[in-house]
Amino acid sequence: MTTSAAQPPVIAIDGPAASGKGTIAYNIATTLGYHYLDSGALYRVVALRALEHDVGAGDAAALATLALDVDVSFRAGRALLGGRSVGDALRTEAVSAAASRIAIHPAVRAALLARQRAFRTPPGLVAEGRDMGTVVFPDASLKVFLTATAEARAERRYKQLIDKGIPANIDGLLRDIRERDLRDSTRAAAPLVPAPDAVLLDTTDLTIAEVTDAVLALHCVRHDPA
Ligand code: C5P
Repeated sequence: MTTSAAQPPVIAIDGPAASGKGTIAYNIATTLGYHYLDSGALYRVVALRALEHDVGAGDAAALATLALDVDVSFRAGRALLGGRSVGDALRTEAVSAAASRIAIHPAVRAALLARQRAFRTPPGLVAEGRDMGTVVFPDASLKVFLTATAEARAERRYKQLIDKGIPANIDGLLRDIRERDLRDSTRAAAPLVPAPDAVLLDTTDLTIAEVTDAVLALHCVRHDPA
């Protein structure tokens, strides 16, 4: 699919939990001077609000209302909820699991759609998540789908947590990642699947810098094929 002339370009980066897409997307946005959308943070913010307000993960209507009303903004890629920084609160395993549970509801996804598309402003956008290339920006100029084994992803998450001084258990992380993968890829609404025109990149044995360079090279070829 080609990018419409009137619309700023979008690089869509999708993939499973802990595939490195957040860091990679942010680096690419910074390098290109593009805007950055961490769509998972929107689902996480709604999940955090739901936990704080005792809204059940099965209450689609109440969750959709929360998603429409939630006061979320971003500063340097970090989420603010009603002006307060919630970066760390959003990364807990409880919020991760709750986000993937609430993300199954079509009404919640619909409530977040316009918010995500509003990030598409000049000079361009790097958007990361699960359905950037399939649902939110189907006309993205470049779609990349990152994969890595669940073991490699659990290992990466483990190192991140230990580096931050947060105690972690590798078996528990692996179990959480597998559960989230299964729920994200088998749900009916916008499941985690590569778009038919996405470039698949297995990052198991690649560094963040190698993946970032590979995606930037793909972007340059699409953007300036001469
Ligand atoms: O990307 P991240 O791990 O922060 O996303 C948290 C959860 O939000 C995912 O497990 C997924 O269920 C949901 N999500 C989604 N669609 C997106 C981004 C995230 O369903 N575009």
